[in-house]
Order: sequence, then C-alpha cells, then structure tokens
Amino acid sequence: MPVPTFALARSTLRPWRLSDLASLLRHADDPEVSRATSDRFPSPYTRAAGEAWLAHATGAGAETDWAVTIDGAAVGGIGVVPGERERRVKVEIGYWLGRAFWGQGVITEAVTHLTDHLLVRPGLLRVEALVYSSNPASARVLEKAGYRLESVQKQAAIKRGEVLDVLVYVRLAA
Ligand SMILES: CC(C)(COP(=O)(O)OP(=O)(O)OC[C@H]1O[C@@H](n2cnc3c(N)ncnc32)[C@H](O)[C@@H]1OP(=O)(O)O)[C@@H](O)C(=O)NCCC(=O)NCCS
Repeated sequence: MPVPTFALARSTLRPWRLSDLASLLRHADDPEVSRATSDRFPSPYTRAAGEAWLAHATGAGAETDWAVTIDGAAVGGIGVVPGERERRVKVEIGYWLGRAFWGQGVITEAVTHLTDHLLVRPGLLRVEALVYSSNPASARVLEKAGYRLESVQKQAAIKRGEVLDVLVYVRLAA
C-alpha cells in the first residue's frame, strides 16, 4: 500500500515518483546535507544513486518513505525504519531537506505531523531519532516536535574523521 499524502502548510509529503530524479539530485547532492546524515545517504549523490533510491522508494513494499515537496518539487525526504520482531513497537525516523529551504520550519512541521500519524497506530509505542552531536539544528527540530532527549551515546559514530556522540531523541505513545 503506498504511503498517504499529507498536504501541510509548508510542504506536501507524498510518495516518491521516478520523475523526481532531477530535483532529488539538485537538492541531495550537497556535502552540507550529507555531513549530518547516515552514510547510507550517498555523497556525492550521483545519478546512479538517485536512480537506485527512486527504484527502491517507488517499488513494491515501499511503505515508509515520503518525498518532502514544495511547489510540486521533491526537495527533501522523510522516512521511517520499522523495528523488527520484538522491536516492532518502535520505528526510527530520519529526514533531510535541501539547503535552499532550511530555517523555514519545513522539517519541524513534517516531523511533527508524521510522528502524530505514526503514534495513533495500534501497537506502535515509540518513535526515535538519532542525531549527531554536531547537528544542533536537527536536535532543535526534534525538541520543537515534542521529542525528548533520552540518552547520549558517547563516541558512537565517526563522520569525515570526526568522532561524534549520538543523541537519542524519543517520542513515546501516550
Ligand atoms: C536539520 C534539517 C532537517 C532542519 O530542517 P529545517 O526545515 O531547516 O528545520 P526547521 O526550520 O524546522 O527548524 C530548524 C531549527 O534549528 C535551529 N537551528 C538552525 N541552525 C542551528 C544551529 N547551528 N544551532 C542551533 N539551532 C539551529 C533553527 O533556528 C530552528 O529553530 P527555531 O525555529 O527555534 O529558530 C536540515 O537542516 C537538514 O536537512 N540538514 C541536513 C541533513 C540532516 O541534518 N538531517 C537530519 C539528520 S538527524
């Protein structure tokens, strides 16, 4: 079943389309975006990487990823990784946005809405987000979206040669 579309005030979250390739490459191929993401996010973000992502995100069973669109163009992404087996009570949320749109509340609105949507699902008890200590903007997004800092994993990641703490943010079902 494809993901639902959410028309929000600042963006529309909708399923990815193969036709998003040019816009995806324009906004994702940016070292300032990938410096704060998991290394799953390619850098440089090549055409082949974009095609592979869109094949995955539009394929059968693609139920956990949304394009963040503004004026119809895919300028970011937000998605969840479901927990498996006994960890099925939780999901991890992740997101990125093209630099041209930073600082306008786009991702705060998207994370807030998507988390609210997820937490009404029966059996889903926990949404978590992992943030590098070098990324105060993302920590701020999560605080504004009602998450709380649960723990700090010391020296838990290395990005571009810098050892980083990982902040674990969480919103629990009521
Ligand atoms: C992090 C990111 C998603 C934020 O998206 P956004 O739409 O610009 O975020 P918002 O505008 O909703 O909110 C950003 C908040 O961070 C604050 N902020 C920005 N830079 C900051 C900094 N260096 N230190 C502290 N706060 C900062 C902003 O002021 C704003 O808070 P405010 O509304 O209280 O003023 C975006 O910058 C991004 O995609 N970065 C690269 C990828 C990434 O970091 N992904 C998340 C991985 S965990």
